[in-house]
Amino acid sequence: MSDNSQYTILVVDDEKSVRESIGRVLKKEGYSVSLTSNGHEALDILEKNHISVVMTDLRMPEMSGIELLEHAKREFQDIEVILITGHGTIEKAVEAMKLGAYDFITKPFKRAEILSSVRRAIEKHTLASENKFLREQLEKTNESRLVFIGESPQVQNVIKLVEKVAPLPSTVLITGESGTGKEIIARMIHNKSPRANRRFVAVNCGAISENIIESELFGHVKGSFTGATRDKEGLFKIASGGTLFLDEISTLPLNMQVKLLRALQEQEIRPVGSTRSISVDVRILAASNRNLQDEMEAGNFREDLYYRLNVVALNIPPLRERRDDIPHLIKHFIAKFNHELNKSVTGASPETIQMLMNYSWKGNVRELENAIEHAMILCDTEELRPENLPHHFFATKVSQLTHQQGLKESVMEFERLQITNTLARVDGDKKAAAELLGLSLSSLYRKMSELQLDVKEYGHKDS
Ligand SMILES: Nc1ncnc2c1ncn2[C@@H]1O[C@H](COP(=O)(O)OP(=O)(O)OP(=O)(O)O)[C@@H](O)[C@H]1O
Ligand SMILES: [Mg+2]
Repeated sequence: MSDNSQYTILVVDDEKSVRESIGRVLKKEGYSVSLTSNGHEALDILEKNHISVVMTDLRMPEMSGIELLEHAKREFQDIEVILITGHGTIEKAVEAMKLGAYDFITKPFKRAEILSSVRRAIEKHTLASENKFLREQLEKTNESRLVFIGESPQVQNVIKLVEKVAPLPSTVLITGESGTGKEIIARMIHNKSPRANRRFVAVNCGAISENIIESELFGHVKGSFTGATRDKEGLFKIASGGTLFLDEISTLPLNMQVKLLRALQEQEIRPVGSTRSISVDVRILAASNRNLQDEMEAGNFREDLYYRLNVVALNIPPLRERRDDIPHLIKHFIAKFNHELNKSVTGASPETIQMLMNYSWKGNVRELENAIEHAMILCDTEELRPENLPHHFFATKVSQLTHQQGLKESVMEFERLQITNTLARVDGDKKAAAELLGLSLSSLYRKMSELQLDVKEYGHKDS
């Protein structure tokens, strides 16, 4: 037999003989029991003790069993309440069930009746607490994974804006190149919003074919097209009360853009094939890695939708414009992959950091994350070394430089790469590097400071 003493049953009845006889039955079965004659004291006991199940009489002076039920359910969500009803109060008991009572038993009751009702109530109570615990754990781990790393002013501004807009119902348009972290930002906004305990539904507009996107977003009714064999809820409906994240919004076909705009304005959607609109309450976050203003000029994106989405604009700058974040991100990803790959890498060598800082990062943070994972898999020392990096880091060529910057910046980036690659080859020996580069040692130093390459970080050998 399981150990029933871990469960405490609170018995509330103004009739002493009734509560004591129920108490005896429960005690004999090994349960811990607490007895009281009125609702106020019962609430007090609930407050101070861990009670699994309340058994309460319906008709009591001062506070009725129904009132006690309502209080208990409101303040201690996963408590189960069983009602004890006398003759003629069955209707009331039925009403109480609707208010969330677990069960009721009628006087005069049999021992077995009490015990079976209590046993089932405890099962339900334990399950509910376990679920709650699991849910909380899950939320915690998800929450803790959601950190947006970066000390640069650009990232700090992004984070400030997230904090500011999260509590509002406003639509946010998140822009940034591929891999800059648009989706984490969207999730952070949701998690910090009053909708946090409702759903976050992400939909990649570019991944859904044109002819089914309307039904995906708005749902459809049975028979509305070939293959619609039953009613289907759309993502707007599924996200109701929560947040809908429309990723790659620029890929939305023009006719869908019209329908989406209408849905946002009316807060109503009409499932495909239905004659009725249904109202929906969703917060919209949208993201794009294309420049929507260019798309508008090219006639691919509707101006009215753009302005409707762009209530708050949040732009995440590319990684190459905030290189100071790179060392922090490296640290973050090393910790992440130590955990995932069961490694104990302590950091990256200065040369490795320097190489990563000088790279063009067209794939932004996602590319950096992948590079670190690659390096960690290959690494069998404590520190990540340049040779652990993906091959193309060594053979960085002009073709791998980014094309989205002016000539001057491109030249500087090329110089940075050339210098750091050379230094890596000669193990940080600056004199040897200067020779290979055809420079005097002092020109190399001057060049390095011009290019903001940290001389100290780059090894200390210069002779
Ligand atoms: N500042 C950051 N701190 C920590 N992790 C980051 C940061 N920025 C991006 N990442 C990580 O980089 C990866 C790419 O981010 P995400 O998927 O949010 O990018 P995206 O902007 O949505 O890219 P795409 O446009 O290609 O969909 C994710 O694994 C994310 O966790
Ligand atoms: Mg994305």
